[in-house]
Amino acid sequence: MKFDSEIQKRRTFAIISHPDAGKTTLTEKFLLFGGAIQTAGAVKSNKIKKHATSDFMEIERQRGISVATSVMSFEYKNTLINLLDTPGHKDFAEDTYRTLTAVDSVVLVIDAVKGVEEQTRKLMEVCRMRDTPVIVFINKLDRDGKLPFDLMDEIEKELNIHLHPLSWPINMGKDFKGVYNLFQKSLLLFNPNQKATEEDIVPLTDLSDPVLDKLVGEKDANHLREDVELIEGVYGDFKPAPYLAGKTAPVFFGSAINNFGVKELLDTFIQIAPIPRNMATTTRVVDVQEDKFSGFIFKIHANLDPKHRDRIAFLRVCSGKFERNKFYHHVRLDKDVRFSNPYSFLARDKDVIQEAYPGDVVGLFDTGNFKIGDTLTEGEDFYFTGIPSFSPEIFKEVVNKDPMKTKQLEKGLLQLTDEGVAQLFTQHNGNRKIIGCVGDLQFEVIQYRLLQEYGASVQFNTLPFYKACWITSENKAKLDEFTRFKTGNVVLDKDGHLVYLAQSQWFLNTEITNNPEIQFHFTSEIHK
Ligand code: G4P
Repeated sequence: MKFDSEIQKRRTFAIISHPDAGKTTLTEKFLLFGGAIQTAGAVKSNKIKKHATSDFMEIERQRGISVATSVMSFEYKNTLINLLDTPGHKDFAEDTYRTLTAVDSVVLVIDAVKGVEEQTRKLMEVCRMRDTPVIVFINKLDRDGKLPFDLMDEIEKELNIHLHPLSWPINMGKDFKGVYNLFQKSLLLFNPNQKATEEDIVPLTDLSDPVLDKLVGEKDANHLREDVELIEGVYGDFKPAPYLAGKTAPVFFGSAINNFGVKELLDTFIQIAPIPRNMATTTRVVDVQEDKFSGFIFKIHANLDPKHRDRIAFLRVCSGKFERNKFYHHVRLDKDVRFSNPYSFLARDKDVIQEAYPGDVVGLFDTGNFKIGDTLTEGEDFYFTGIPSFSPEIFKEVVNKDPMKTKQLEKGLLQLTDEGVAQLFTQHNGNRKIIGCVGDLQFEVIQYRLLQEYGASVQFNTLPFYKACWITSENKAKLDEFTRFKTGNVVLDKDGHLVYLAQSQWFLNTEITNNPEIQFHFTSEIHK
């Protein structure tokens, strides 16, 4: 319990959303409350502009911005908040999924006009895999959106999670008058052209109080009374346990751009969001309160300057105290390493840090020693589990255009895929190299970076596959037979695991039906 006071202070989380729902705007408002930035507009989003899909300068520029805003740490009411940014662009979804392995909870932003969208579904699936506690923020109440009860139904059904409203809106769009905070029993009034102030908050423990009619008019007051009665009847009192177990998500309504409902969200967040959690490893559960340091790498970021191939590896501290210049055990390489310039991400003060505690993220300068999923300890051998690789959706064969640069190409492919930019597969019993990505944009990034950083020139040939499944079986003979028959579809991942590439859902279903003794997995755990 040596570091208990540091642990109790920390909340490490991410804001996730389908692009354009308002993640960047909400992030910025949080940072303003935390005093980490002084003016609105200071956080230029980490998202790649919609029309810049093949603009390399834009990609490069974004890589610079996204290192700087990867982790935003700030203090708010004696709580140290580590907000981990996630790229909005869907082609970088895998980066987002991996970042979710390093957080203890998330805030999910949903656009009240659009409801649940494609990325919302995928991101929630990842949260569900880890039982990550989720708070939902329904944004853009200043616009005419779907009705609140309909939205609640849609979210519950589509995301397969129970909801528990902690605030409730009075109308929407041009008639939007504010939200009633069911958690704090207060009314927050909306003023379209003005920032919400403390005066706009009216304590209101009893909704039958006639003051409500005076503030929002009799009709809306009665409507709110009915809604709240229904909500309290259906949902009862808010209980933290199902939220912390990832089963129930509290819901807030507001408008990020108008800074409305954001403070209520943040205030409740610091009260209910979990402190850094215990983490499972390949040998045992690491208790966050343990004295000895442990942590893992969840993201690697290439240097912006192509002349220097060093990278920043992002380490999440899981237990103990991380100290500058102290030797730690790099489990995979079985060697001791130390860091003289660990980098902190305090938004106001990006600097070398002396120490870090569970929940913190430290940037380590790396010259190629780290892979995603690597673990540092004080000597013990284990890996943190639950850091999956996801099935890519686009596959291309790498064609080397310059045989003189074969070595550089191989090195480049290995290093870029260690960074998690894409997944590399090798033909089973062959040498063909296949790259699998979630989005097309990554192929352009890879081609560009191979040339710039490794001098290797490649071309990609599109392959007709749509999904990769890791295959396993208790019956080795059956697995051998399958790989022999399906030789054109079976490849090896970087760790030598067998992977089946399916041409279509139909082929995949057929193989699953025809081979009951073989298990098809859509994610692969880096460490089991
Ligand atoms: P993202 O990071 O999730 O992709 O979304 P972002 O915050 O960039 O917001 C997407 C768009 O939605 C932005 O408009 C933003 O101003 C707007 N927005 C965010 N919150 C609200 C809200 O509460 N109400 C309304 N009406 N709009 C909101 P944009 O025109 O795409 O960009 P910008 O020119 O305003 O930056």
